[in-house]
Amino acid sequence: MRIGIFDSGIGGLSVLNEAYHRLPDQEYIFYADTRHVPYGTKSEEEIRGYVDEIVRFLIEKKVDAIVIACNTATSVAAAMVREKYDLPILGMEPAVKPAIEETADDDRRILVMATPVTIREKKLENLLLRVDQQHKADLLEMPELVKFAEREEFDSENVRDYIRKQFSSLGASDEKYSALVLGCTHFNYFKPLYKEILGEKTHLIDGNYGTIHHLGDVMGLDIKNDDDKEIIFNQPQDIVVGFNTTYYESGDEITDINRLSKYLRMLSRLEFVRKF
Ligand code: DGL
Repeated sequence: MRIGIFDSGIGGLSVLNEAYHRLPDQEYIFYADTRHVPYGTKSEEEIRGYVDEIVRFLIEKKVDAIVIACNTATSVAAAMVREKYDLPILGMEPAVKPAIEETADDDRRILVMATPVTIREKKLENLLLRVDQQHKADLLEMPELVKFAEREEFDSENVRDYIRKQFSSLGASDEKYSALVLGCTHFNYFKPLYKEILGEKTHLIDGNYGTIHHLGDVMGLDIKNDDDKEIIFNQPQDIVVGFNTTYYESGDEITDINRLSKYLRMLSRLEFVRKF
């Protein structure tokens, strides 16, 4: 099957990476809207326009299903494109439900990080009303992390200072929070830093597995269980031919080796952070 996966930028690669682990035999089209990143600080109307254009593009490429690998785009535009187009369109929302379930016996709170748009949208408010009856979740905007990620700045003192400053506004530590929900796909790249700053006893929860599992269910595909397997990406061909993937940036196919090398580096980073 041909699956389209898109995001405003490189965040969506975390979902593609999970797909490589769980559904390695499918064909993928990955689309990063690099011309318009970041989405998380734009207006709802602008984001709806971008998403509509990408979905139409992917349908022209004859995909069987689309994954919106972006919490922000899902929260403002998923309902609209589902209504308009006749193919499975899966979205992502912050994994608050698994976080609440996994920490049911824990008195500590849950910290949900996302973009400003995701945090102010009704979709998250409704989700919290449904699954967080005990009001355990605190919300935190992290818009700068999207920019750090796009600059490949995953481990600098500047990014550490930013995360520290944001966390300290809530007095965050692993004494206070049992779980940290990564409600934006760009946030995956910084997993080691959250642990370093909060402490080891906060569990990190992203929506990547849940999203790919859902895709498998909807499309009738068998999910592989390969938790311990590490994929080694050596050269650009590994992420193109090796996993049957075509990469696009805002409508332009990426064939240049230097540009593909960036995706290779990002996927290698994502392999590394899977362990956290
Ligand atoms: N990666 C996107 C998300 O999951 C949004 C990042 C952005 O463009 O602001 O929310």
